[in-house]
Amino acid sequence: MLDSEMKENVRWGILGPGRIAESFARDVVQVEGCVLQAVASRDVERARAFAERHGAEIAYGDYAEMLADEAVDVVYVATPHAFHAEQIRMCLEAGKPVLCEKPVTISPDDLRPLIALAEEKKLFFMEGLWSRFSPAWRQARRWIDEGRIGTSRHLTASFGFRGPKDPENRLLNPSLGGGALWDVGIYTLAFATTMLGTQVEETAVQARFGGTGVDEDASMMLRFAGGAVAQLFCSVNTQTRHEATIEGDEGRIVFPPDFWRPESVELITPKATDERCFLDTPPGFQLEIAHVRDALRDRLLQSPVIPLAESLLWQEIIYPWVRRFPDFN
Ligand SMILES: NC(=O)c1ccc[n+]([C@@H]2O[C@H](COP(=O)([O-])OP(=O)(O)OC[C@H]3O[C@@H](n4cnc5c(N)ncnc54)[C@H](OP(=O)(O)O)[C@@H]3O)[C@@H](O)[C@H]2O)c1
Repeated sequence: MLDSEMKENVRWGILGPGRIAESFARDVVQVEGCVLQAVASRDVERARAFAERHGAEIAYGDYAEMLADEAVDVVYVATPHAFHAEQIRMCLEAGKPVLCEKPVTISPDDLRPLIALAEEKKLFFMEGLWSRFSPAWRQARRWIDEGRIGTSRHLTASFGFRGPKDPENRLLNPSLGGGALWDVGIYTLAFATTMLGTQVEETAVQARFGGTGVDEDASMMLRFAGGAVAQLFCSVNTQTRHEATIEGDEGRIVFPPDFWRPESVELITPKATDERCFLDTPPGFQLEIAHVRDALRDRLLQSPVIPLAESLLWQEIIYPWVRRFPDFN
């Protein structure tokens, strides 16, 4: 349970001080009511250097040691996907609420028991997919709910980038959960379920496999209840424009690049003057971090913005396709 001190400040611990943890640590100290308490790495020197750069109180050279620290209120897991399930379990077993980077796991069979464990322990648990907090995503969803584009028929989203060529890199290495679907496809999928809902009736995936056997480019097609169709593309090999659109029978909503971190969104209808909203969006993780702070203070066990049922749906959509891929084991 949360101690009284947390009412003052939510004290974060970071597990896995790598690339994305750098951005998270820079943002966590910008959020009122949050402090960076601790960081844990397998390498104590890496933890110390990270703690020094970001002003963390304490650096650990062992994850379990940080999880035993009573001064840590919540843990941010920021390791490659393949380690998430085991590390989330460690956090929950140690009594710590968890925010884990996307994709939360790489199989629905890994996620289900973790959801049950969090429930049993009465601990907050959430997948971190920060685009979901984007004010532009929320504005688009409001327009859809208000009927401004009529009935949604067609959604597109594309997220591809030229990733590293090193076959050991987590993006290409199958044993680290490599591939485009898990890394960036999940943003396009989250965009689709944000805008069209979670009643997905059918999915299909086509992919191109690179030399390491992972999906370097993949295209998903989804059909939603009501008949709307989503066409999604992701790549860790090819730069795309990162655009996204939702087309309805009375108008459309257009996201500029980069749809996964937009500062504006446009509504185009034949009836009204086009509306373009520029939204005051803090860069990075700040809205997600503030959301977790509030959820902990309100003693929520799940996020209403990214419910675990939706995380499970994303797992259930991607996993069956990934496991068909040539080098899956
Ligand atoms: N939200 C976003 O915008 C965003 C952006 C990029 C990535 N991500 C997500 O964040 C997670 C981490 O990505 P990243 O690029 O930051 O990872 P990374 O820098 O490659 O690694 C992060 C940490 O994970 C541990 N690690 C790395 N490789 C390992 C290995 N082979 N075996 C065991 N531990 C290993 C290391 O922890 P130690 O220091 O303990 O050794 C490392 O410091 C991924 O799940 C990714 O999807 C999110």
